[in-house]
Amino acid sequence: MIHENVDKAKKSKGCPSQGGGDMAQKQKEQQAMIKANLAKIKHKIFVLSGKGGVGKSSISANLAASLSKKGYKTGLMDVDVHGPSIAHMFGMTELLDITPDQQMLMPKQVNENLKVVSVQALMQDKDQAIIWRGPAKTGMIQQFVGAVEWGELDFLVIDAPPGTGDEPLTVVQTIPEAQGVIVTTPQEVALADIRKSISFCKTVKLKTLGIVENMAGFKCPHCSECIDLFKSGGGEKTAKAQGLNFLGSIPFDTRVVSAGDKGVPVMLEENESEFTQAFSTVVDNIIEKL
Ligand SMILES: Nc1ncnc2c1ncn2[C@@H]1O[C@H](COP(=O)(O)OP(=O)(O)OP(=O)(O)O)[C@@H](O)[C@H]1O
Ligand SMILES: [Mg+2]
Ligand SMILES: [Zn+2]
Repeated sequence: MIHENVDKAKKSKGCPSQGGGDMAQKQKEQQAMIKANLAKIKHKIFVLSGKGGVGKSSISANLAASLSKKGYKTGLMDVDVHGPSIAHMFGMTELLDITPDQQMLMPKQVNENLKVVSVQALMQDKDQAIIWRGPAKTGMIQQFVGAVEWGELDFLVIDAPPGTGDEPLTVVQTIPEAQGVIVTTPQEVALADIRKSISFCKTVKLKTLGIVENMAGFKCPHCSECIDLFKSGGGEKTAKAQGLNFLGSIPFDTRVVSAGDKGVPVMLEENESEFTQAFSTVVDNIIEKL
């Protein structure tokens, strides 16, 4: 399935006999623009997961927030065409800024070091489900990735579309130098999905920085006992078995949910907690592996 996707994408990439010279020329120009644009960014981190709902967007948002607080110039790009949620997590309502020459999308400045952009900007209505199919969607993703005016960045964090199909593949092919961070929960089903993610990374030759286990344990606010909501240790075991780095385990914390609704990610706020400590360890491990 993945091989099939890769082949399909290879075949559809820039065949000059398709659509006449004009199209080919336009495509060339677009590719050159994307390349020039991405060359100004030192590290691209592609956050992926085999299935939805494991906390990919929360990890992306907090990773970008944390890097920006460490003083790195950071960009966060939401390319999840089916469930863009980054804008909501940063309390952004105004999404669409365009450069004066109308050629590029301007990211929103969250703080001195952090800029955020969401594919939601290209959707007319935020509740509108994506209905583009096949080549139209691929083209839209490529255009979006290439059309953001980031300027110089240390890090670009990419919240990818979930799964291992055409959409994440398009993103990887548009940003081939990106490095993957795989998010999972500790439970068996999620771990079966993670193997798909690992095989995806291998097939598309996406360098993998490692695995992050999310929603690992929950400390009861009443008696402080730790409850393993989705078991424990699975992420580390899988990482070992697959020869990948284990980047750390992040506990379940109800503040992640409320922060998401408040529009300020936990890692942008100051206070120390088990969550922020665990998250900082993951961030340090990612920086070390780059
Ligand atoms: N460590 C955590 N502690 C508590 N809640 C969490 C944690 N991580 C994520 N959540 C919550 O779980 C839900 C799913 O998280 P999130 O949206 O980040 O997942 P996702 O993988 O991006 O999902 P989707 O596939 O829909 O894009 C959200 O309500 C989020 O607030
Ligand atoms: Mg998401
Ligand atoms: Zn208790």
